[in-house]
Amino acid sequence: MFQLANLSGPFYLLGEGSNTVIVEDYIGTLVLNKMKGITLEESKNSYWLSVASGENWHDLVTWCMDKAIGGFENLALIPGTVGAAPIQNIGAYGVEVSAFIHSVEYYDIEEGAFVTIAGNECLFGYRNSIFKHKLQGRAFITKVNFRLPKHYSLVTHYGELASLCEPNMLDVYAKVVEIRRSKLPDPKFIGNAGSFFKNPVVAKEKATNILEHFPDAPAYPQEDGQIKFAAGWLIEQCGFKGTSLGGVQCHPKQALVLTNYKNASGSDVLTFARKISETVQSKFGICLENEVRLLGRNGLVEL
Ligand code: EPU
Repeated sequence: MFQLANLSGPFYLLGEGSNTVIVEDYIGTLVLNKMKGITLEESKNSYWLSVASGENWHDLVTWCMDKAIGGFENLALIPGTVGAAPIQNIGAYGVEVSAFIHSVEYYDIEEGAFVTIAGNECLFGYRNSIFKHKLQGRAFITKVNFRLPKHYSLVTHYGELASLCEPNMLDVYAKVVEIRRSKLPDPKFIGNAGSFFKNPVVAKEKATNILEHFPDAPAYPQEDGQIKFAAGWLIEQCGFKGTSLGGVQCHPKQALVLTNYKNASGSDVLTFARKISETVQSKFGICLENEVRLLGRNGLVEL
């Protein structure tokens, strides 16, 4: 940790790199997180897990399933580390990890001190947290502390999970793995960083107007009254699904994912992503934001 504080020049903290697209040769030092270790404690109503940030997320989910500890089953097969989970507030099939985060421990690079922040102070939102704003580039997450209640209800309302008949946590886990394997390309075999864009959330009036013109658009009302649209649907409607530019392809089974299909360069990625985003903007009047982190020569870049 102290060596981190003593690094001269810029550096970028990487977990497994599963949500970062390196679009140019970065001039600084890439710091890889290899911290490991899981401790489990049990109280009357909850399991308490303390997990080092370099642990693999999916391995943690599977470890919990093997011990019949439920809660994470909808989040199976999400690539990346445990430390990255709170940054992005990873989510899938109706569940976000923030529901289980009791606290996050990090090394404050500016202060040179170890800090613990409570889950309810992390400003969690849809793919968002304090670690992407105030604490960006400043917090090296070392440990995530989870509280998993022993009594909870499985979340099975989302998409194909609703077809499960009286499932248990292992059925949900298996179904999520099956759905993800069928739709999403495995980054071990074809380079990709999952959803390239966030699903856009727009004001209700604007959403009503869009839905008048495109009544089939999948739209999800949010707690604050805004409406979330499915970016994959918007991109597909613009005709990009299955098409490619340079070495980048818009995945034929899930338009929200861009893959490195044939020796893509960083500039191919940016050019294609900008073209998609401009086309969606002109057809629907909706601005897409990148969900992935784009690392350029001097640090993170915007689309
Ligand atoms: N859709 C299309 N065409 C496509 C893709 C999707 O019409 O090419 C439609 C689907 O038919 C569905 C809707 O869009 O009606 C939503 O699709 P899906 O259930 O596949 O989910 P998503 O909104 O595209 C989000 C997350 C995924 C997560 C899934 C399941 C974001 C940016 N992505 O995708 O997360 O696995 O929901 O919960 O929120 C990731 O973050 O990397 C990721 C893969």
